[in-house]
Amino acid sequence: MAQFIQYAHVDSNAIKDELIAGLLAPQAFTSPKYLYDALGSCLFQAICELPEYYPTRTEAAIFDKYAEEIGHSVGEGVTLIDLGAGNCAKAARLFPVLHPAQYVPVDISADFLAESVNGLQKIFPHIEMTAIGMDFSAALGLPPAVRSDKRIFFYPGSSIGNFTLPESLAFLQRLRKACGSDGGLLIGADLIKDKDVLDAAYDDAWGVTAAFNLNLLRHLNRLLDADFNVRDWQHRGFFNSELSRIEMYLEAKANLTVHWQGGQRRFERGERIHTENSYKYTQQAFAKLLEHAGFGDARIWTDPRSWFMVCHAKAV
Ligand code: AVJ
Repeated sequence: MAQFIQYAHVDSNAIKDELIAGLLAPQAFTSPKYLYDALGSCLFQAICELPEYYPTRTEAAIFDKYAEEIGHSVGEGVTLIDLGAGNCAKAARLFPVLHPAQYVPVDISADFLAESVNGLQKIFPHIEMTAIGMDFSAALGLPPAVRSDKRIFFYPGSSIGNFTLPESLAFLQRLRKACGSDGGLLIGADLIKDKDVLDAAYDDAWGVTAAFNLNLLRHLNRLLDADFNVRDWQHRGFFNSELSRIEMYLEAKANLTVHWQGGQRRFERGERIHTENSYKYTQQAFAKLLEHAGFGDARIWTDPRSWFMVCHAKAV
C-alpha cells in the first residue's frame, strides 16, 4: 500500500468564514477549489473526455510525442511532486521515461486521491509513493517524508490558470523555494486561441461543464448548511479577451434569497456568483513569468496548432 498523509487538517470554520465572505461580497465569488468534491472530481474527469475540451488531450499528445525529450530534460530518479494529482493518470504516463525515485501526489480531494494512488502502487510496485491530502493553494509546507533532493513540481493541465498573474507569480516563487537548487518545474499552460474554441470548451453542448459548475451549489449546501436550489441557477462560461481569461459564473434565474446558518443573501434575477477564472497565456508571457519566479533554462513543447504548451524549467 502507498503511504497516505493527511496534512494540514481541514479547519471547517475557516472554510465557512471564507465562503460566507465571498458570498456576501458585492460581486459574489467562491474559490474554484470547492468545485472538487467527490462528484465534482468525477465531473471534471468527464469534462476531460468532451470533444470541446481540448486542453487535456492536447497536453497528453504533447507528453506522448515528446516523452523521450521531456524525460531527458527532467532526468531520472527525481522526487516527482504532483500538485492536484486527481486520478494520477498524467504522472503515471510519464513514469516509464522519468523513473522517479519517489512519487508524491498531492490533492485536496483526499479520498479520491487515496483510491487512485493505491491502484497505481500495484502497477508500479518499485516506485516509492507518498500521497498527501492537503490544500496546497494556501501554503506548501511538505511533510518530512517527502525527499528533498531533485524535487520536480509537476503542475499539468493549466491549473495555474486559476490564479491571477500576481497570484501565479507568488505561487511559482513558493515552488521555487520549495524545490531547492537542484529542482525544477514541469508545467502545462493553456495558450490564447480563437474565442469560439475557448467559449465551447467551457460551455459544452452536453452541459457537462454546466453540471460541474452547478454541483458547486450542492457542495456549498453541505459545507454551509445552505439552501441553494440548483434549479434556480444556470451556468455561464466564456472567454474574456480583455483579461485573457475564461470566466465561469452561476447566474440566478429568478429573484431569490439563499440562507445558511447565521446568514443569508438576496440575489436578483441575472445576478452572478463568480466561480472560476482560467487564464490563457502567450508562450512569451508564460516564459517571462517563470523567469521572474526564479526558473530558467526553460524548454517548451507545444502541439501543431499551438493551443497548449508544456514547459520544463530549472531552478536558477
Ligand atoms: C482544472 C483549472 C485546468 O481551467 O480548464 C474545466 C477547470 N473548469 N472546465 C480549466 C475547468 C471548467 C480546468 N482546470
